[in-house]
Amino acid sequence: MVNIKIDYEKSGIDKKQIMEYKEKVENIHKDLHRRADDIDDFVGWLKLPENYDKEEFDRIKKSAIKIQKSSDILLVIGIGGSYLGARAVIEAMSSNFSSLQSEKQRKAPQILYVGNNLSPNYINDLIEVLSDKDFSINVISKSGTTTEPAIAFRIFREILENKYGIDEARSRIYVTTDKKRGALKTLSDNEGYEKFVIPDNVGGRFSVLTAVGLLPIAVAGIDIDKLMQGARLAQDKYNDPNIKYNDCYQYAVLRNVLYNENKTMEIFANYEPKMHYFTEWLKQLFGESEGKESKGIFPVGVDLTTDLHSMGQYIQEGIRNMFETVLYYRTTNSNITINADDDNLDGLNYLTGKDLDYVNKKAMEGTIQAHVTGGVPNIEISIEKLDEENIGALIYFFELACGMSGSVLGVNPFNQPGVEEYKKNMFKLLEKPGY
Ligand code: PA5
Repeated sequence: MVNIKIDYEKSGIDKKQIMEYKEKVENIHKDLHRRADDIDDFVGWLKLPENYDKEEFDRIKKSAIKIQKSSDILLVIGIGGSYLGARAVIEAMSSNFSSLQSEKQRKAPQILYVGNNLSPNYINDLIEVLSDKDFSINVISKSGTTTEPAIAFRIFREILENKYGIDEARSRIYVTTDKKRGALKTLSDNEGYEKFVIPDNVGGRFSVLTAVGLLPIAVAGIDIDKLMQGARLAQDKYNDPNIKYNDCYQYAVLRNVLYNENKTMEIFANYEPKMHYFTEWLKQLFGESEGKESKGIFPVGVDLTTDLHSMGQYIQEGIRNMFETVLYYRTTNSNITINADDDNLDGLNYLTGKDLDYVNKKAMEGTIQAHVTGGVPNIEISIEKLDEENIGALIYFFELACGMSGSVLGVNPFNQPGVEEYKKNMFKLLEKPGY
Protein backbone atom coordinates (compact mmCIF):
# COMPACT_ATOMS: atom_id res chain seq x y z
CA MET A 1 0.00 0.00 0.00
CA VAL A 2 1.30 3.43 -0.89
CA ASN A 3 0.39 6.14 1.57
CA ILE A 4 2.83 8.95 2.28
CA LYS A 5 1.85 10.77 5.46
CA ILE A 6 3.01 14.23 6.45
CA ASP A 7 2.70 15.61 9.94
CA TYR A 8 3.85 19.16 10.58
CA GLU A 9 2.05 19.81 13.84
CA LYS A 10 5.40 20.25 15.55
CA SER A 11 6.72 22.72 12.98
CA GLY A 12 5.29 25.71 14.83
CA ILE A 13 3.65 26.79 11.56
CA ASP A 14 -0.08 27.15 11.34
CA LYS A 15 -1.91 25.65 8.38
CA LYS A 16 -3.43 29.10 7.75
CA GLN A 17 0.06 30.52 7.02
CA ILE A 18 0.51 27.83 4.41
CA MET A 19 -2.88 28.41 2.84
CA GLU A 20 -1.92 32.04 2.20
CA TYR A 21 0.16 30.70 -0.68
CA LYS A 22 -2.87 29.13 -2.37
CA GLU A 23 -2.93 31.38 -5.41
CA LYS A 24 0.82 31.41 -5.87
CA VAL A 25 0.93 27.61 -5.72
CA GLU A 26 -1.89 27.27 -8.24
CA ASN A 27 -0.06 29.53 -10.67
CA ILE A 28 3.19 27.61 -10.30
CA HIS A 29 1.32 24.31 -10.66
CA LYS A 30 -0.21 25.52 -13.94
CA ASP A 31 3.14 26.78 -15.16
CA LEU A 32 4.94 23.49 -14.34
CA HIS A 33 2.22 21.44 -16.05
CA ARG A 34 2.29 23.67 -19.10
CA ARG A 35 6.06 23.29 -19.35
CA ALA A 36 6.06 19.52 -18.74
CA ASP A 37 5.32 18.74 -22.40
CA ASP A 38 7.91 21.16 -23.73
CA ILE A 39 10.90 19.15 -24.90
CA ASP A 40 13.17 22.17 -24.52
CA ASP A 41 12.32 22.72 -20.86
CA PHE A 42 13.42 20.69 -17.83
CA VAL A 43 10.06 19.71 -16.41
CA GLY A 44 9.64 16.36 -18.20
CA TRP A 45 10.01 14.50 -14.87
CA LEU A 46 6.55 15.77 -13.88
CA LYS A 47 4.78 13.30 -16.18
CA LEU A 48 7.50 10.68 -16.42
CA PRO A 49 5.73 7.94 -14.42
CA GLU A 50 3.09 7.69 -17.18
CA ASN A 51 4.89 9.27 -20.06
CA TYR A 52 8.04 7.23 -20.60
CA ASP A 53 9.55 5.28 -23.47
CA LYS A 54 7.98 1.80 -23.13
CA GLU A 55 10.26 0.23 -25.75
CA GLU A 56 13.30 1.47 -23.89
CA PHE A 57 11.83 0.29 -20.58
CA ASP A 58 11.60 -3.28 -21.98
CA ARG A 59 15.14 -3.01 -23.32
CA ILE A 60 16.32 -1.98 -19.85
CA LYS A 61 14.76 -5.14 -18.39
CA LYS A 62 16.34 -7.32 -21.08
CA SER A 63 19.76 -5.73 -20.60
CA ALA A 64 19.45 -6.19 -16.84
CA ILE A 65 18.89 -9.93 -17.30
CA LYS A 66 21.88 -10.12 -19.66
CA ILE A 67 24.11 -8.34 -17.12
CA GLN A 68 22.82 -10.54 -14.29
CA LYS A 69 23.74 -13.65 -16.28
CA SER A 70 27.20 -12.50 -17.33
CA SER A 71 28.51 -10.47 -14.42
CA ASP A 72 29.38 -10.65 -10.72
CA ILE A 73 29.61 -6.88 -10.62
CA LEU A 74 28.03 -3.96 -12.45
CA LEU A 75 30.15 -0.82 -12.37
CA VAL A 76 27.97 2.27 -12.40
CA ILE A 77 30.07 5.16 -13.66
CA GLY A 78 28.44 8.53 -12.98
CA ILE A 79 28.35 11.49 -10.62
CA GLY A 80 25.63 13.64 -9.02
CA GLY A 81 22.25 13.04 -10.59
CA SER A 82 23.84 10.38 -12.77
CA TYR A 83 24.31 7.97 -9.87
CA LEU A 84 22.78 9.15 -6.59
CA GLY A 85 19.19 8.18 -7.42
CA ALA A 86 20.13 4.65 -8.44
CA ARG A 87 22.25 4.21 -5.34
CA ALA A 88 19.49 5.61 -3.10
CA VAL A 89 16.98 3.04 -4.36
CA ILE A 90 19.40 0.11 -4.51
CA GLU A 91 20.66 0.62 -0.95
CA ALA A 92 17.16 1.18 0.43
CA MET A 93 16.02 -2.10 -1.11
CA SER A 94 19.08 -4.28 -0.43
CA SER A 95 20.64 -5.89 2.62
CA ASN A 96 22.74 -3.54 4.74
CA PHE A 97 25.51 -6.07 4.18
CA SER A 98 24.96 -6.84 0.50
CA SER A 99 28.68 -6.53 -0.20
CA LEU A 100 29.30 -9.47 2.15
CA GLN A 101 26.47 -11.61 0.79
CA SER A 102 27.12 -14.40 -1.69
CA GLU A 103 25.66 -13.88 -5.14
CA LYS A 104 23.12 -16.59 -4.33
CA GLN A 105 21.97 -14.73 -1.22
CA ARG A 106 21.94 -11.42 -3.07
CA LYS A 107 20.22 -12.97 -6.13
CA ALA A 108 21.85 -10.32 -8.32
CA PRO A 109 25.23 -8.88 -9.22
CA GLN A 110 26.81 -6.47 -6.83
CA ILE A 111 26.54 -2.84 -7.90
CA LEU A 112 29.66 -0.74 -7.39
CA TYR A 113 29.98 2.97 -8.07
CA VAL A 114 32.90 4.83 -9.60
CA GLY A 115 33.46 8.11 -11.43
CA ASN A 116 32.03 10.06 -8.51
CA ASN A 117 35.41 11.20 -7.17
CA LEU A 118 38.99 11.61 -8.37
CA SER A 119 40.77 9.53 -5.74
CA PRO A 120 43.51 7.26 -7.10
CA ASN A 121 43.15 5.07 -4.00
CA TYR A 122 39.48 4.48 -4.75
CA ILE A 123 40.20 3.51 -8.36
CA ASN A 124 43.13 1.25 -7.46
CA ASP A 125 41.15 -0.49 -4.71
CA LEU A 126 38.39 -1.15 -7.23
CA ILE A 127 40.80 -2.45 -9.86
CA GLU A 128 42.10 -4.92 -7.29
CA VAL A 129 38.60 -6.11 -6.41
CA LEU A 130 37.70 -6.59 -10.08
CA SER A 131 40.74 -8.68 -10.97
CA ASP A 132 39.05 -12.06 -10.51
CA LYS A 133 35.47 -10.97 -11.16
CA ASP A 134 33.27 -10.84 -14.22
CA PHE A 135 31.92 -7.34 -14.68
CA SER A 136 29.98 -5.02 -16.96
CA ILE A 137 29.87 -1.23 -17.12
CA ASN A 138 26.99 1.21 -17.21
CA VAL A 139 28.44 4.64 -17.89
CA ILE A 140 25.97 7.45 -17.28
CA SER A 141 26.42 11.09 -18.19
CA LYS A 142 23.81 13.39 -19.65
CA SER A 143 26.31 15.96 -20.88
CA GLY A 144 28.72 13.19 -21.81
CA THR A 145 31.62 15.45 -20.91
CA THR A 146 31.83 15.36 -17.09
CA THR A 147 35.46 14.82 -16.09
CA GLU A 148 35.11 12.37 -13.19
CA PRO A 149 33.05 9.73 -15.04
CA ALA A 150 34.95 10.30 -18.30
CA ILE A 151 38.26 9.46 -16.60
CA ALA A 152 36.79 6.42 -14.85
CA PHE A 153 35.28 5.17 -18.11
CA ARG A 154 38.59 5.51 -19.93
CA ILE A 155 40.34 3.48 -17.20
CA PHE A 156 37.74 0.72 -16.80
CA ARG A 157 37.00 0.39 -20.51
CA GLU A 158 40.66 -0.39 -21.06
CA ILE A 159 40.62 -2.96 -18.25
CA LEU A 160 37.46 -4.53 -19.68
CA GLU A 161 38.99 -4.68 -23.18
CA ASN A 162 42.21 -6.23 -21.89
CA LYS A 163 40.24 -8.80 -19.96
CA TYR A 164 37.66 -9.86 -22.55
CA GLY A 165 38.96 -8.55 -25.88
CA ILE A 166 37.38 -5.67 -27.81
CA ASP A 167 34.28 -7.54 -29.01
CA GLU A 168 33.15 -9.03 -25.74
CA ALA A 169 34.04 -5.83 -23.90
CA ARG A 170 31.74 -4.00 -26.30
CA SER A 171 28.84 -6.25 -25.32
CA ARG A 172 29.50 -5.52 -21.64
CA ILE A 173 29.29 -1.73 -21.97
CA TYR A 174 25.97 0.09 -21.56
CA VAL A 175 25.84 3.82 -22.15
CA THR A 176 23.18 6.17 -20.78
CA THR A 177 23.47 9.65 -22.24
CA ASP A 178 21.89 12.41 -24.29
CA LYS A 179 20.04 11.53 -27.49
CA LYS A 180 21.98 13.89 -29.73
CA ARG A 181 25.00 15.48 -28.06
CA GLY A 182 28.20 14.91 -26.12
CA ALA A 183 31.48 13.03 -26.28
CA LEU A 184 29.96 9.92 -24.72
CA LYS A 185 27.25 9.79 -27.37
CA THR A 186 29.85 10.07 -30.14
CA LEU A 187 32.04 7.39 -28.54
CA SER A 188 29.08 5.10 -28.06
CA ASP A 189 27.92 5.55 -31.67
CA ASN A 190 31.42 4.80 -32.94
CA GLU A 191 31.81 1.68 -30.82
CA GLY A 192 28.23 0.44 -31.17
CA TYR A 193 27.50 0.15 -27.46
CA GLU A 194 23.96 -0.56 -26.22
CA LYS A 195 22.60 2.91 -25.58
CA PHE A 196 19.88 4.39 -23.39
CA VAL A 197 18.64 7.94 -23.57
CA ILE A 198 18.19 10.59 -20.92
CA PRO A 199 15.23 12.61 -22.22
CA ASP A 200 16.06 16.19 -23.22
CA ASN A 201 13.56 17.61 -20.77
CA VAL A 202 14.74 15.73 -17.68
CA GLY A 203 17.74 17.12 -15.77
CA GLY A 204 20.28 14.97 -13.92
CA ARG A 205 18.91 15.13 -10.38
CA PHE A 206 15.35 14.51 -11.62
CA SER A 207 16.37 11.51 -13.75
CA VAL A 208 16.21 8.51 -11.42
CA LEU A 209 13.02 7.24 -13.09
CA THR A 210 14.70 7.21 -16.51
CA ALA A 211 17.33 4.71 -17.71
CA VAL A 212 19.79 6.63 -15.51
CA GLY A 213 18.37 4.99 -12.43
CA LEU A 214 16.30 2.16 -13.87
CA LEU A 215 19.06 0.07 -15.48
CA PRO A 216 21.29 -0.24 -12.37
CA ILE A 217 18.19 -0.67 -10.19
CA ALA A 218 16.87 -3.49 -12.40
CA VAL A 219 20.30 -5.18 -12.46
CA ALA A 220 20.22 -5.17 -8.65
CA GLY A 221 17.08 -7.32 -8.88
CA ILE A 222 14.65 -4.59 -7.86
CA ASP A 223 11.23 -4.52 -9.52
CA ILE A 224 11.20 -1.41 -11.70
CA ASP A 225 7.57 -1.95 -12.72
CA LYS A 226 6.56 -1.55 -9.09
CA LEU A 227 8.87 1.44 -8.66
CA MET A 228 7.17 3.20 -11.58
CA GLN A 229 3.75 2.11 -10.32
CA GLY A 230 4.47 3.82 -6.97
CA ALA A 231 5.61 6.97 -8.74
CA ARG A 232 2.46 6.88 -10.89
CA LEU A 233 0.24 6.66 -7.82
CA ALA A 234 2.06 9.68 -6.37
CA GLN A 235 1.67 11.54 -9.66
CA ASP A 236 -2.12 11.03 -9.47
CA LYS A 237 -2.32 11.86 -5.79
CA TYR A 238 -0.32 15.11 -5.96
CA ASN A 239 -1.91 16.39 -9.12
CA ASP A 240 -4.36 18.68 -7.30
CA PRO A 241 -3.49 22.36 -7.82
CA ASN A 242 -5.33 23.26 -4.61
CA ILE A 243 -2.78 23.30 -1.79
CA LYS A 244 -5.55 22.49 0.68
CA TYR A 245 -5.75 18.97 -0.78
CA ASN A 246 -2.14 18.58 -1.79
CA ASP A 247 0.22 17.51 1.04
CA CYS A 248 3.22 17.69 -1.25
CA TYR A 249 2.61 21.38 -1.96
CA GLN A 250 1.98 21.98 1.75
CA TYR A 251 5.43 20.58 2.52
CA ALA A 252 6.98 22.70 -0.28
CA VAL A 253 5.39 25.87 1.07
CA LEU A 254 6.10 25.00 4.70
CA ARG A 255 9.82 24.86 3.85
CA ASN A 256 9.55 28.39 2.47
CA VAL A 257 7.62 29.70 5.48
CA LEU A 258 10.28 28.28 7.80
CA TYR A 259 13.03 29.71 5.58
CA ASN A 260 11.43 33.14 5.82
CA GLU A 261 11.59 32.77 9.60
CA ASN A 262 15.39 32.31 9.30
CA LYS A 263 15.34 28.53 9.41
CA THR A 264 17.88 28.32 6.62
CA MET A 265 19.00 24.72 7.13
CA GLU A 266 16.93 21.57 6.67
CA ILE A 267 18.15 18.43 8.38
CA PHE A 268 16.91 15.26 6.69
CA ALA A 269 16.93 12.66 9.44
CA ASN A 270 16.42 8.95 8.95
CA TYR A 271 16.34 6.11 11.47
CA GLU A 272 17.34 3.42 9.00
CA PRO A 273 20.92 2.94 7.72
CA LYS A 274 19.53 1.74 4.38
CA MET A 275 18.17 5.26 3.84
CA HIS A 276 21.60 6.91 4.01
CA TYR A 277 21.84 7.30 0.24
CA PHE A 278 18.23 8.38 -0.06
CA THR A 279 19.24 11.27 2.19
CA GLU A 280 22.27 11.91 -0.04
CA TRP A 281 19.95 12.03 -3.04
CA LEU A 282 17.68 14.50 -1.20
CA LYS A 283 20.64 16.73 -0.35
CA GLN A 284 21.59 16.89 -4.00
CA LEU A 285 18.01 17.35 -5.21
CA PHE A 286 17.31 20.32 -2.96
CA GLY A 287 20.84 21.75 -2.70
CA GLU A 288 21.50 21.94 -6.42
CA SER A 289 17.95 23.06 -7.20
CA GLU A 290 17.55 25.83 -4.65
CA GLY A 291 20.97 27.13 -3.68
CA LYS A 292 21.38 30.05 -6.06
CA GLU A 293 21.14 33.86 -6.25
CA SER A 294 22.33 33.98 -2.60
CA LYS A 295 19.18 32.15 -1.55
CA GLY A 296 18.12 28.66 -0.57
CA ILE A 297 17.80 26.24 2.33
CA PHE A 298 21.05 24.35 3.01
CA PRO A 299 20.15 20.64 3.13
CA VAL A 300 22.05 18.36 5.46
CA GLY A 301 21.53 14.73 6.42
CA VAL A 302 21.86 12.72 9.59
CA ASP A 303 21.60 8.98 10.13
CA LEU A 304 19.96 8.38 13.49
CA THR A 305 20.33 7.23 16.10
CA THR A 306 24.01 6.97 15.02
CA ASP A 307 24.56 10.71 14.60
CA LEU A 308 22.82 11.60 17.86
CA HIS A 309 26.21 10.75 19.30
CA SER A 310 28.01 13.15 16.98
CA MET A 311 25.68 15.81 15.55
CA GLY A 312 23.00 15.48 18.23
CA GLN A 313 24.60 18.06 20.51
CA TYR A 314 24.65 20.70 17.78
CA ILE A 315 21.10 20.02 16.70
CA GLN A 316 19.93 20.30 20.29
CA GLU A 317 21.81 23.45 21.31
CA GLY A 318 23.73 24.99 18.37
CA ILE A 319 22.69 27.99 16.24
CA ARG A 320 18.88 27.98 15.97
CA ASN A 321 18.73 28.25 12.19
CA MET A 322 17.51 24.76 11.36
CA PHE A 323 14.43 22.61 11.01
CA GLU A 324 14.27 18.85 10.84
CA THR A 325 12.45 16.62 8.37
CA VAL A 326 12.25 13.10 9.72
CA LEU A 327 11.75 10.27 7.22
CA TYR A 328 10.60 6.89 8.44
CA TYR A 329 8.60 3.78 7.59
CA ARG A 330 5.62 2.89 9.74
CA THR A 331 5.95 -0.89 9.35
CA THR A 332 9.33 -2.57 9.42
CA ASN A 333 10.22 -5.35 6.96
CA SER A 334 11.92 -7.37 9.68
CA ASN A 335 12.14 -7.25 13.44
CA ILE A 336 13.90 -8.76 16.42
CA THR A 337 12.70 -9.26 19.99
CA ILE A 338 14.82 -8.53 23.05
CA ASN A 339 15.03 -11.59 25.31
CA ALA A 340 15.22 -11.72 29.13
CA ASP A 341 18.59 -12.28 30.73
CA ASP A 342 18.74 -14.00 34.12
CA ASP A 343 21.57 -11.85 35.44
CA ASN A 344 20.37 -8.58 33.92
CA LEU A 345 23.83 -7.11 34.43
CA ASP A 346 23.26 -4.74 31.52
CA GLY A 347 20.02 -3.56 33.17
CA LEU A 348 18.02 -4.12 30.01
CA ASN A 349 15.36 -6.48 31.36
CA TYR A 350 12.85 -3.61 31.33
CA LEU A 351 12.84 -4.14 27.55
CA THR A 352 12.16 -7.89 27.70
CA GLY A 353 9.67 -8.89 25.05
CA LYS A 354 9.90 -5.55 23.28
CA ASP A 355 11.10 -5.48 19.69
CA LEU A 356 13.82 -3.33 18.17
CA ASP A 357 11.49 -1.43 15.85
CA TYR A 358 9.52 -0.36 18.94
CA VAL A 359 12.72 0.84 20.63
CA ASN A 360 13.83 2.65 17.46
CA LYS A 361 10.46 4.43 17.17
CA LYS A 362 10.58 5.46 20.85
CA ALA A 363 14.09 6.83 20.29
CA MET A 364 12.67 8.77 17.34
CA GLU A 365 9.72 10.14 19.34
CA GLY A 366 12.01 11.13 22.21
CA THR A 367 14.45 12.82 19.85
CA ILE A 368 11.72 14.75 18.06
CA GLN A 369 10.37 15.98 21.42
CA ALA A 370 13.87 17.03 22.52
CA HIS A 371 14.66 18.84 19.28
CA VAL A 372 11.31 20.64 19.20
CA THR A 373 11.81 21.75 22.81
CA GLY A 374 15.31 22.90 21.80
CA GLY A 375 13.86 25.17 19.09
CA VAL A 376 14.10 22.94 16.02
CA PRO A 377 10.77 22.83 14.17
CA ASN A 378 9.86 19.31 13.07
CA ILE A 379 8.21 17.76 10.02
CA GLU A 380 7.50 14.03 9.83
CA ILE A 381 7.20 12.27 6.47
CA SER A 382 6.46 8.56 6.60
CA ILE A 383 5.80 5.73 4.19
CA GLU A 384 4.02 2.48 5.00
CA LYS A 385 7.06 0.30 4.40
CA LEU A 386 10.33 0.09 2.52
CA ASP A 387 9.32 -1.42 -0.80
CA GLU A 388 9.53 -0.50 -4.47
CA GLU A 389 6.13 1.17 -4.66
CA ASN A 390 6.63 3.34 -1.60
CA ILE A 391 10.14 4.35 -2.68
CA GLY A 392 8.85 5.20 -6.17
CA ALA A 393 6.13 7.35 -4.63
CA LEU A 394 8.59 9.05 -2.31
CA ILE A 395 10.90 9.91 -5.21
CA TYR A 396 8.05 11.56 -7.08
CA PHE A 397 6.85 13.32 -3.92
CA PHE A 398 10.24 14.93 -3.30
CA GLU A 399 10.86 15.85 -6.94
CA LEU A 400 7.52 17.63 -7.07
CA ALA A 401 8.08 19.25 -3.67
CA CYS A 402 11.45 20.48 -4.90
CA GLY A 403 10.06 21.88 -8.16
CA MET A 404 7.32 23.70 -6.24
CA SER A 405 9.52 24.84 -3.35
CA GLY A 406 12.25 26.28 -5.58
CA SER A 407 9.64 28.08 -7.68
CA VAL A 408 8.00 29.56 -4.56
CA LEU A 409 11.48 30.69 -3.45
CA GLY A 410 11.82 32.49 -6.78
CA VAL A 411 14.77 30.62 -8.29
CA ASN A 412 14.97 28.34 -11.31
CA PRO A 413 15.11 24.89 -9.66
CA PHE A 414 16.15 23.15 -12.87
CA ASN A 415 19.54 24.67 -13.65
CA GLN A 416 22.91 24.57 -11.84
CA PRO A 417 25.06 27.44 -13.15
CA GLY A 418 27.23 27.49 -10.02
CA VAL A 419 28.60 24.01 -10.67
CA GLU A 420 30.61 25.36 -13.62
CA GLU A 421 32.84 27.57 -11.47
CA TYR A 422 35.06 24.84 -10.02
CA LYS A 423 35.32 23.18 -13.42
CA LYS A 424 36.69 26.33 -15.07
CA ASN A 425 39.42 26.65 -12.43
CA MET A 426 40.22 22.94 -12.52
CA PHE A 427 40.49 22.87 -16.33
CA LYS A 428 42.72 25.95 -16.29
CA LEU A 429 44.99 24.35 -13.69
CA LEU A 430 45.04 21.12 -15.71
CA GLU A 431 45.87 23.15 -18.84
CA LYS A 432 42.89 21.83 -20.77
CA PRO A 433 42.94 23.34 -24.29
CA GLY A 434 40.66 26.39 -24.47
CA TYR A 435 40.88 27.27 -20.73
O1 PA5 B 1 21.60 17.31 -11.39
C1 PA5 B 1 22.48 17.56 -12.20
O2 PA5 B 1 22.23 18.07 -13.31
C2 PA5 B 1 23.92 17.24 -11.91
O3 PA5 B 1 24.11 16.79 -10.61
C3 PA5 B 1 24.45 16.20 -12.88
O4 PA5 B 1 23.70 15.04 -12.75
C4 PA5 B 1 25.93 15.90 -12.64
O5 PA5 B 1 26.68 17.09 -12.70
C5 PA5 B 1 26.45 14.92 -13.67
O6 PA5 B 1 26.28 15.45 -14.95
P1 PA5 B 1 26.34 14.52 -16.25
O7 PA5 B 1 25.25 13.54 -16.17
O8 PA5 B 1 26.19 15.48 -17.39
O9 PA5 B 1 27.69 13.86 -16.24
